[in-house]
Amino acid sequence: MCGIIGYIGPRNASEIVVEGLKKLEYRGYDSFGFAVRANPDIKILKRVGKIGSVTVQELGLPNSNLAIGHTRWATHGSVTEINTHPHISQDEKIIVVHNGIIENFQAQKKFLESQGLAFYSQTDTEIIPKTIEYHMKRGYDFVEACKHSLKHLEGQYAIVALHKDENKLVAIRKEAPLVIGVGEGEFFVASDVPAFLEYTKKVIFLDEMDLAVIDKNISVFNLTKNSFVDRTITNIDWNAEQARKGEFDHFFMKEVYEQANTLERVANIDETLIKEVAGEIRKSEGIFFVACGTASYACMHGVYTFAKIAKMHINFCLAHEFPNFKHFLNNKSLVIALSQSGETADTLTAIRAAKAAGAKTISITNAMGSSLMRESDKTILARAGPEICVLSTKAYTSQLAILTLLAYELAGKLDEGKEKLKEVVRYIYYLTSEHTRKFIQEIAKNLRYAQHIYLIGRGLQYPTALEATLKIKEVSYIHAEGFAGGELKHGVIALIEHGTPCIVFTSTENEKEIISNAMELKARGGYIIGVGPNNNPVFDVWIKVRESEEANSICQIIPMQILAYQLAMLRGCDPDKPRNLAKSVTVK
Ligand code: F6R
Repeated sequence: MCGIIGYIGPRNASEIVVEGLKKLEYRGYDSFGFAVRANPDIKILKRVGKIGSVTVQELGLPNSNLAIGHTRWATHGSVTEINTHPHISQDEKIIVVHNGIIENFQAQKKFLESQGLAFYSQTDTEIIPKTIEYHMKRGYDFVEACKHSLKHLEGQYAIVALHKDENKLVAIRKEAPLVIGVGEGEFFVASDVPAFLEYTKKVIFLDEMDLAVIDKNISVFNLTKNSFVDRTITNIDWNAEQARKGEFDHFFMKEVYEQANTLERVANIDETLIKEVAGEIRKSEGIFFVACGTASYACMHGVYTFAKIAKMHINFCLAHEFPNFKHFLNNKSLVIALSQSGETADTLTAIRAAKAAGAKTISITNAMGSSLMRESDKTILARAGPEICVLSTKAYTSQLAILTLLAYELAGKLDEGKEKLKEVVRYIYYLTSEHTRKFIQEIAKNLRYAQHIYLIGRGLQYPTALEATLKIKEVSYIHAEGFAGGELKHGVIALIEHGTPCIVFTSTENEKEIISNAMELKARGGYIIGVGPNNNPVFDVWIKVRESEEANSICQIIPMQILAYQLAMLRGCDPDKPRNLAKSVTVK
């Protein structure tokens, strides 16, 4: 939800923030803006819309050694140039970009107005430069005024601020991601690593309430501890190539295609970690999976897989519903949170509730150094590499694979689980091949004008139906709904009319039952698309996905990801940046 970037160093800062912001656009793409310090002036530029491929020259930004940028996903105030970041103080000296929400902005705005400060936008952000300005007027220097301001700002935020007369950046983190890239005599600060991965893999992950002052050096002051702190430099094992589209038109398809590699990485995961986490699971009493969106369907897969392979019952709860169940937690409970970004506010809230109740916490996340990683007791990294498309694809299958390995380890058969995964990896090359992509494209042509698509599956295929539904909905804007096959006759079947597309996920395990459901759909006029190992006369079209038992969830979702992509393309939708969505949902 909003992406921020800043640079200070010998390169052209304008170039770096413009190009870096393009890598953060997945976080929000309503509008974008920059502030460039071209001593003695500050050039501010704001535009409504996506940044697209615009260059620094086209934008007319000056050469500089210090600049900040912002891409917005509107929360407070409509999408207008006035509401676009950066926001400035009344004396036009303090300039701020911000990701997150200032919860007490109305009260703070009233206070600042009573002190003679006037406001030009409807954003919560504008109170930040004006609060800093207020404290500077009371005699504090810029950095001290930033520190004092934080005492008056409630909510979650990452902020980068600069002062017109000072060659430095101030970066502040409170419950919203902010990472510093450390180069040779230069620093980057951004919401996420891909923004500066071209230049450095050395990063400092700021902690809660850290305030970093960055000029030729960096010093970090922690406002909770009220003292300066040392923050270590971590080496990121991502590479710049992973954050580029390469030969693909969109990150979506690139990331779908990458899944053979990302899953291979999971198959070769450090066994010690899997064993340690399985050990925690074994000794816990009362275990919950929590997550939102796509990651929640990975949790559902986990529930089925743990039941089937490890013969263990795990509770699953959407992270935002978790407060209703937290009274079940005690110091023997375990909460396992799944999140691609590691920054989803609802998921973090669930983890915090677990910790408050004395429960153990484990996370499975794709984002090294994320809040979730730092706040949970143990983390398994999903190893999917940067996921830039707003829709989650490769991180999802990595989560499925990790849960599958854990289930096998709990059953004392980790080697078998790893073998199974390696076999799947070979098959995924076929599933993501051009041949499959073309075949699915033909199916998409038949579905492109559909108003509704229904998807059903049983057992492990049920979470797959739900995840496939989400992919279709969010990127093609076709209404889709997923159901457990057995649920049809309890109401849903009333929706089926002549020609209604129905996607049916099958497996040899429950073939008879799910084919009966497909027949029920067909009898009401449904157009049946089968996805699974065997063809059947009830199918109008069949997408062959060979039987992979517990790994069916991994294999069967891939043609559905491709279908969602093809539908988006045929319907003229942007597959990387669907309307109204942001990748990292850092607000509750
Ligand atoms: C769907 C999608 C979202 C996320 C959800 C949770 O394609 O990406 O549904 O899965 O917002 O995000 P994370 O996994 O970052 O916690």
